Amino acid sequence: MSAITGTKSSKPAADSSSEFAGRLLDWYRQNRRSLPWRQTRDPYAVWVSEIMLQQTRVETVIPYYQRWMEQFPTLQHLAQADEQQVLKAWEGLGYYSRARSLHRAARLVIEKYNGQIPSEIENLIRLPGVGRYTAAAIASIAFGQDEPALDGNLRRVIARLFNVSLPARSPQGEARLLELLYSHLPAGKAGDFNQALMDLGALICTPRKPHCSRCPLADGCQAKALGVQEERPVQSPRAATPHYTVTAAVITRAGKVLLTRRPANGLLGGLWEFPGGKQEEGETLPECLQREIREELGVEIEVGEVLGIYRHAYTHFKVKLHAFFCTLLQGEPQPHQADDLTWAALSELPHFAMGKIDRQIAADLLKMERSLFPPE
Ligand code: ADE
Repeated sequence: MSAITGTKSSKPAADSSSEFAGRLLDWYRQNRRSLPWRQTRDPYAVWVSEIMLQQTRVETVIPYYQRWMEQFPTLQHLAQADEQQVLKAWEGLGYYSRARSLHRAARLVIEKYNGQIPSEIENLIRLPGVGRYTAAAIASIAFGQDEPALDGNLRRVIARLFNVSLPARSPQGEARLLELLYSHLPAGKAGDFNQALMDLGALICTPRKPHCSRCPLADGCQAKALGVQEERPVQSPRAATPHYTVTAAVITRAGKVLLTRRPANGLLGGLWEFPGGKQEEGETLPECLQREIREELGVEIEVGEVLGIYRHAYTHFKVKLHAFFCTLLQGEPQPHQADDLTWAALSELPHFAMGKIDRQIAADLLKMERSLFPPE
């Protein structure tokens, strides 16, 4: 195969596309991963899968997708569900704004489009939680539109194949990659073309140590010809990840524990948690927790023993959380900086939608139930 050539045109060009796309699609026919969302072209199912797959590994998504489609088999089922059910079904997948946006978007499609998910990228992109990538994935996979879905796998494969040396996530790099994809897209087959590139990126053209000897496109790969495949795609320098120290209070009363619900918008929005917050400069951990509880709930507490230290890495920062047993000294908690609060029995904790750290705290409390609240 001759070196694959890029073209400047942004329209699909049948001639230059045929060799690269043909080889790719042949490979895909024989090697495609069998994934549950590939058994259907139902736009709702494709949409759910694409939202779940944002920032999340395929193996993690599969059981969530299957449970979700049983619980909310259609857009109508999802639109009619309440937010806590939706968040509970998403629990453990992370990035909960995805679930809240999907829920809002389902209601919007019912109101605005009479329940029919739009097929054009321009309308899809206006739905909450749908960016350019997701709109293109839905448009191509569910509706057969000629749209490239530029995700991390496609960025890497195309940057190597055409030896693109612009930083892949810069506006110029992105424009170049999209231009190359448009010019090689096989008309009417974009869904398979996109998913073939995703699979090639996941199985062969991996970030480190790509398996070039098994690659169907190897002899046309410009980065391989120059021996620079591991240096593509070019990354923009990343800012250092901030680390936050956080405290949380386990406040008990009459066999129950205090939970607050996070404000709907923002990180972990709508999820339940043990109240607390970020340590500020110069504060001890107990001072931090007392201040946070005063601000959030308007009450004074005594900070007691440590329950545990919990860590979690979010996309843009890392958290180390210190959980303390606390006692209410004065006042009745009010949700000043929370959407709601409740006193929950330990046996009820599994029913509240929570993020990873709070679920771990809840699990640790459940293990200690007998010593915390001895039977009378
Ligand atoms: N990642 C995002 N969308 C995907 C799809 N349709 N198949 C496999 N991996 C994906």
